Amino acid sequence: MNQDLASFKRMAAEHAVTFVKPGMVVGLGHGSTAIWAVRRIADRIHSGELRDIAAIPCSLTVERDARELGIPLATLEEQPAVDITIDGADEVDPALNVIKGGGGALLREKIVGQATKRYVIIVDESKCSPTLGTTWPVPVEVLPFGLRAHTLYLESIGATPKLRRATDGQPFNTDQGNLILDCAFGPIPDPRSIAQKLNEHAGIVGHGLFLGMATDLIVAGSSGIRHETCAR
Ligand code: A5P
Repeated sequence: MNQDLASFKRMAAEHAVTFVKPGMVVGLGHGSTAIWAVRRIADRIHSGELRDIAAIPCSLTVERDARELGIPLATLEEQPAVDITIDGADEVDPALNVIKGGGGALLREKIVGQATKRYVIIVDESKCSPTLGTTWPVPVEVLPFGLRAHTLYLESIGATPKLRRATDGQPFNTDQGNLILDCAFGPIPDPRSIAQKLNEHAGIVGHGLFLGMATDLIVAGSSGIRHETCAR
């Protein structure tokens, strides 16, 4: 990965962790940006600065990473009201709408995000875009049952779906055992209408359009850190 991009990810993540205070329930996002936040939270716990944290991981991978780093974990069943979640994104528009799911954890990320008061998206500057869909497809998590029917439905609403594969060439399986269709739409002028169509089809269990959810956006780039907020 480009060295600058890697350091921007870290900068954005570490800035966001300054919002985490003792006693908070914290959602831990998944991905190469969010992992820097997980590491920084662990450092602050071990230095004694952050006491009584309960962390809710958004994926099995982050759960394993957080456990290895000694972060106290809880489930969303035990802590259904999350104070703050820090998570990455694949594409962000000027209204702080986001495409997520490049790492495949979109469903749990959205469930944790919707249970969160302060939802902080952290990105390097390459993720900012004038219109969602310009640089990234929308990941759509589907049940394996009815895969061809889901694919035809997605085509009927203007997408070009592609079954996501793991590095071994086999279909990628989510933490729930579902499949992902990466749906290229091109620039999406009205993401709410696409989200509604995705929400309507049985067998689509989640999608990567996270609209009106982010309360904070931290962008790190060559000119430093930018923090934007959005009332929810
Ligand atoms: C995980 O499913 C995703 O939503 C990630 O948050 C997103 O893909 C950004 O990932 P990176 O931080 O690795 O670019």
